[in-house]
Amino acid sequence: MSDRSVISLFREEELPRYDLSRTPALVRLLDDRLPDADDDLWRRWGSFQSEFLDWTRDRAGVSPEYVAESIARLAELFEYRGPLEGDVLDVGGGWGLLRRWWQAGGDSFFVVHDPALERFLSGPPPLYRELYSGALERPMTFVAGFGEELPYRDAAFDEFVCAATLDHALDPQRVLVEGRRCLKPGGRALVILHCAGFSGEERTLRRPFGVRLGSALRHPLRSLKRLLRGSKDPHLHHFTVEGLVALMEEAGFTGVEVRPYGEGSGARAFIALKA
Ligand SMILES: C[S@@+](CC[C@H](N)C(=O)[O-])C[C@H]1O[C@@H](n2cnc3c(N)ncnc32)[C@H](O)[C@@H]1O
Repeated sequence: MSDRSVISLFREEELPRYDLSRTPALVRLLDDRLPDADDDLWRRWGSFQSEFLDWTRDRAGVSPEYVAESIARLAELFEYRGPLEGDVLDVGGGWGLLRRWWQAGGDSFFVVHDPALERFLSGPPPLYRELYSGALERPMTFVAGFGEELPYRDAAFDEFVCAATLDHALDPQRVLVEGRRCLKPGGRALVILHCAGFSGEERTLRRPFGVRLGSALRHPLRSLKRLLRGSKDPHLHHFTVEGLVALMEEAGFTGVEVRPYGEGSGARAFIALKA
């Protein structure tokens, strides 16, 4: 039994900022200082994040087919790329669903770094719990915080993952630079993102009618609120494939490979290395 602790991944000077009493499951920031950025930008981020949280609550109504399809896409991707290995940093990792494709070594860590603490604490809806059951039992540390300012040591992790998150972050470029800093030389990066304009299709968040109706019946107040305010795209940024490759290269990743991710979807997987 190893006595390696997840705390060893943190920079020593960062530790006083965190409540470590619930490690290894949860590490919380003690202060509410935000990474440096304009107040207006943070306000904008806050409004988009709450839009996303609303949307994700509604998604309690997603169908088994929807979840099964997203599992099939990920399975195909990880079959091609190989599983996640060693110490994994999943920025914006939410419930840590990607543990399903993690080949956990005896003393390795899966760290999800994400600001949505309440969403993590309430846990995934039953459908996700059922379809990801084995994975959700694997160990994980949730660190509440922002990808723009990671508290980890340089070269601490074997893998950096960022799935469906850069379009939600305040400063995607900073997230990539920070993610790369935290990777070991030779470490691997995997970014998954919906890229607009790839095949001319427009991003749509409209769910099938049956799902929307089910959700409206289950959450009438929330649905009324949404109807009055109008449904807003919860993404702060939109990327093209070329734009994201350039951003990753600027952040210092090498050998960026773009891989289709799901038939008929604008999403792409970007697989890269830290040289
Ligand atoms: C669409 S979810 C993706 C969750 C998970 N990666 C997945 O693929 O199922 C986007 C996530 O990004 C997180 N997020 C938003 N802003 C962020 C930031 N600045 N740094 C890190 N994560 C952020 C949200 O809290 C949310 O969990």
